[in-house]
This record gives sequence, structure tokens and C-alpha cells, in this order.
Amino acid sequence: MADLPTSSAASAARSLPAIIQGGMGVSVSNWRLANATSRSGCLGVISGTGLDRVVAYRLQEGDAEGHLRRVIARFPFPAIAERVLARWFVPGGVPRAGVYRQTSMIGHQPSAENLELIVVANFAEVALAKEGHTGVVGINLLEKIQVPNLASLYGAMLAGVDAVLMGAGIPREIPAALELLSRHEPATLLLHVDGALEGETTRLRFAPRELVGEVPLPTLVRPPFLAVIASDTLAQSLARSTNGQVDGFVIEGPIAGGHNAPPRNHAGQLNARGEPIYGPRDVVDLERIKRLGRPYWLAGGFGDPGGLVRAQALGAQGVQMGTAFAFSHESGLTSELKVQALAMVQAGTAQVFTDPQASPTGFPFKVVELPGTLSEASVYAARTRICNLGYLRQAYRLPDGRIGWRCPAEPEAHFIAKGGDPAELVGRKCLCNGLMSSAGLALATAAGGRELPLVTAGDNLTSLGAIGVDLAGYDVQAVLKLPVPVTAATG
Ligand SMILES: Cc1cc2nc3c(=O)[nH]c(=O)nc-3n(C[C@H](O)[C@H](O)[C@H](O)COP(=O)(O)O)c2cc1C
Repeated sequence: MADLPTSSAASAARSLPAIIQGGMGVSVSNWRLANATSRSGCLGVISGTGLDRVVAYRLQEGDAEGHLRRVIARFPFPAIAERVLARWFVPGGVPRAGVYRQTSMIGHQPSAENLELIVVANFAEVALAKEGHTGVVGINLLEKIQVPNLASLYGAMLAGVDAVLMGAGIPREIPAALELLSRHEPATLLLHVDGALEGETTRLRFAPRELVGEVPLPTLVRPPFLAVIASDTLAQSLARSTNGQVDGFVIEGPIAGGHNAPPRNHAGQLNARGEPIYGPRDVVDLERIKRLGRPYWLAGGFGDPGGLVRAQALGAQGVQMGTAFAFSHESGLTSELKVQALAMVQAGTAQVFTDPQASPTGFPFKVVELPGTLSEASVYAARTRICNLGYLRQAYRLPDGRIGWRCPAEPEAHFIAKGGDPAELVGRKCLCNGLMSSAGLALATAAGGRELPLVTAGDNLTSLGAIGVDLAGYDVQAVLKLPVPVTAATG
């Protein structure tokens, strides 16, 4: 058995609840969902992905119920809070839905304006998720979306976030960054730059004191860090890392919603439906995980009545569930999409496709096949390609050594002019706009319409009815009753 971590973050990880409501971006796991989950004694997790725009858009829609302004008033650095409200709050809301003023697409040298919005947005979402109860709240971020991550973490820590969960990449440097940020010290992350020459490195840097200035600083706690992984080899390597302590793992199988890890074998081979083929090498060896001495939660198809018992029999502290929460009343998916998807589940016509090409990240991405959404090839083909949100852009080396940004879902000619490989364009979809739209924040298009949604869910969407939720609509309480009787879940 490996040395047991003894830091306070490590023991905090051991006391995290058995049931985690997984992070779901963009804004599917919003503060309302996380708040409802956390107040019931489970770990509610907000998604930090794209939160800068989510909050900027909500403010531009007038913040009708005043929730954002209420918590932003508690932001510990008032001058920054005032600037963010002055820039983004529109009393009464913008005149036309979807026509929002945009923040600039973020690059490796973000402006103070970008950073202030990111920090305040992450603070606000965590603060709202924590309001009115004493439960625990986590934040989920994707390692692949590197640039905003440090500022997002700092904002979440200012609001007292109780856990950080991060996957979709190798989050090796995050624990050390959390230590530094908890002391308001500068933190850095290695930026992955396509085509970088050997020995050439670029580090992203975020320095809290440079942003907030010479003001009194609050005491911050370094939250426990859970890496979301799909491989015991990666877990082992993260556990051995000297870059700070990984306090636990969420082990996610290939039937989970959102992005999936690519299969290890069968490189490039697809099944008859055109989905990646997973095999025995993709099964995580839980005996090896156990030997690492960290708590772990199992994710992907554990949201059924026997899920928690099954996971705990496998040595897990609990389960992380996503799909069942995503279609509950409290989630950020639009109610039209929830009704449409649940009606298809009811009718037995719902299908989830593991798309090997859609995501600009190159990772397989689960797509719910919903008529009228970007899941339909003809609907997607009718969309005019545009890159105006830019979260999934990849950094690349320009011939003169500077850094450029490109995305295989941007207009083809732009991507190719930036030296992108034309083969990468095939089948790519703009997840940024599709996911923003599915959370009710669709941008207006130049043609006068709105961007259409793209919905993700796990393979078990189709069996939601069979496991006992009411397909006419259900709330978080119904989901929390699914895995086990409450006594076992909280005991
Ligand atoms: C709508 C949706 C969006 C998701 N987005 C993310 C994400 O942004 N980051 C992440 O780590 N996992 C994401 N996931 C995965 C969930 O956090 C969770 O691990 C997974 O859904 C568990 O499997 P299940 O769907 O079978 O319950 C997403 C899942 C869903 C359904």
C-alpha cells in the first residue's frame, strides 16, 4: 500500500459524501442543481467550463431575480466586483435574446478584464451553490481548456469551494497550483502548444496579487483535489507525482456522459454504428487503484438503484452520477430539451451516439440524437461555421515562435490557413456554441436565428425510466433516492 496522504485536503477527501453529482458543462450542472444536491448531504458540483460567458450573459439578461448581484456584492475585492457589474450588467436585459456583448476569446496572455470576469464568475457560481445550507460544493474543470483554469480555481477558492474535480487531460500540475493559490501566490501551468520545438515551453501564469492589488487578502483553504480518470496507469502516475497531492479519483467508464477517454486498443476502429470500440484494456484495474490508498468514486452507469452498493463492494467511497441529474428540473438544460429527450426515452426511441469526431478535442463525445439539434448531420451542415467562443481552441506554434490559436470546428479556410491538418476538420462540431445553446444561452447568428443546441448524456439515458424516475419530469430528490436508501448513502 502506498503511503497514505495525511494532509488536511486528503482527510477532507475521505469525508466527502458517497454520492457526487458530476460536473456537467456548459452550465448543465449550474448552481441551482449543485445547491439542491449539496443541501441534501451529497456533493453538488458546479461546472466551471465557460462560466465567464455564462455569467456575463446572465448579467446581460438583467439578472431578474438578483441572485448574481447578491453574491457578487460579497466578492472580497469590491473594486473588481464593481468593474465586472459595470461592464456586464444590463438593467432590464438586452433588447434581443442572444445578442450579447462578448468578452474577447481568451489566449495565453489574458487581459485583466478577462481574468476579473473569470474570477468573479467562478466565485459567484460557487457562492450561489453554497447558499442556504452547510453542505459541500465542488467545481469541475476540464484540463484541456487550459487557459482559464488557474483564475477559475482562484475564484472558486475565494468562495470556499470544498473540492476540485478535473479530467479530460492529465491534471498533473493542479495540486501544486492549488497550494500556491491558497496562499495567493503566483501559479503556473505548462501550455500544450502544437508544433513546439524541443525544449521550447510556454507556461500559463496567474498571479492573484497582481490582479487584486495591495488589499487585505482572505485566508483560503486548499480544497481536496479529485482527478477524473479512466486508467489505472494514469492514476498511478498522478499518485506518484511530486507536483502536490492528488487526494482521490473519480474513475469514469466509457458509458459516462460528456467526453470519454479514447479507447486504448483498436486504434481508430469503429463498431457498426461508427462508435469507438472499447475492450478489456479499457477496464480500470481497481486492485491497483486500491493500492494507491486514496478514496475513489466510480462513474458511468452507476445511477441505478444498485449502483452505490455495487461501487462500494468494489472498494469505492461512492459513485459520481451525471445523466440522471442532467434531465432533472434543477439542471441548466433547457426545459424544452429535457421534455423532448424524456419523451423519447418514454417512447423507446432515445439514442446516444458516442461520436469519435464531433469534439474538437479529439476525444470521443457522447451525443443525444435529438431531432432539430446539431446531432443531426443535415442540421449541422446547414450551420455556418464560426468560432466566436473559442474555449476548445488549441495553441500552436507560429513560424516565428509566437503562439496562435486554432480549432478544427472553425471555418475550414481559417483552420487550414493556420496550418491545421485538413483531415482534422472531418466531422468536427462547435461544442462551444452547441452546449451554450443547450443551456439556454444560444447566441444570435448573423442570419438572424439562434445557434442550435447539442446535448450530451451517458448511454444509460435510455434506461432512465427503467431505473425509476418519472419521465414526465423529476427533481433532484428523485435522483438522490435512486442509488440506495438514504441511510446507506449518507452513512
Ligand atoms: C450533460 C453532461 C455533461 C457532462 N459534462 C462534463 C464535464 O464538463 N466535465 C466532466 O468531467 N464530466 C462531465 N460529464 C460526466 C459527468 O460528470 C459524470 O461523470 C458522468 O455523467 C457519470 O456517468 P453517467 O452519465 O452514466 O451517470 C458530463 C455528463 C453529462 C451527462
